[in-house]
Amino acid sequence: MPEAVIIGSERSEVGLPTGREVLARGGSALDAVEAAMRCCEDNPADHYVGTGGLPNARGEVELDASVMLGSSRRFGSVGALRGYPNPISVARAVLERLPQHCMLVGEGAALFAEENGFDTAELLTEESLALWREQLQASGESVEGENTAALDGDQRYRRAALDLVRRFAPHDGPWGTINIIALDASGEMCVGVSTSGYPFKYPGRVGDTAVPGAGNWCDLRAGGAACTGRGELSMRGGTARSIVDLLAAGSDPAEACRTALADAATLPDDFRAELRALALTPDGRHGGAAGQQGSVYAVMTADSPELQTHPRIVL
Ligand code: GLY
Repeated sequence: MPEAVIIGSERSEVGLPTGREVLARGGSALDAVEAAMRCCEDNPADHYVGTGGLPNARGEVELDASVMLGSSRRFGSVGALRGYPNPISVARAVLERLPQHCMLVGEGAALFAEENGFDTAELLTEESLALWREQLQASGESVEGENTAALDGDQRYRRAALDLVRRFAPHDGPWGTINIIALDASGEMCVGVSTSGYPFKYPGRVGDTAVPGAGNWCDLRAGGAACTGRGELSMRGGTARSIVDLLAAGSDPAEACRTALADAATLPDDFRAELRALALTPDGRHGGAAGQQGSVYAVMTADSPELQTHPRIVL
């Protein structure tokens, strides 16, 4: 049996040690991924996931998350979930407690979270609100009205934001979705992904994080893979599934990621932004690829508390 291992994208370092402890105690890959991801979602300094995530165009935080198990290919996800700080746990509940479905979005996802007793929280922090306002101002439009007495001003502000969504500059810089993949001592594998999605997105937009085969795929016959970056590209490219198909065909993990990303990069897209990917095989080999130099991923094994950082290969 291979050594238990947990790997993650940039900024997963906040959670990987917690996930590693789960694996070191003989816990499951699913428990390790959930525990690690919750730490990331609870980090208000991270503006791409959970509490403090960047809001949609109307200033509302909407979160996507998914988990997938390699042995059964059972999948659970939530999309555009509002008001719940740990969408990874709600996605897990969809997988475990709602076997007739794989994915819940919007109001239905929130209803399910409420029925299952998940805690609610205010997800929009002062800092993420300030970033949203900065983005609106950068678009060159007036946001007058925000300071006028209560509701009218706020409504005008939000209406102006929605009108502007088409004119926002394409998102620049690294995307912050978090990918975490774990392989446990029993040989089970789990892939988890969590995000606040495309910054200042159109309300209701759901990205690749929630979509099987796009941002998340796990099949114990070949491996697991996950994506960060412009989810519209990985949805159109079927990127996570392609990576696992390439693993099944004998490609090594980094090369499989590079080949699938190169395919997605051929798609016409006016809002082009970078896509990154990570993969892990059932025998514990791992790798990643990215469109930019200097991108890395993190690895921890059950036997050692040391966090290693590995470079991703570049397209
Ligand atoms: N990859 C995250 C998103 O596009 O929402």
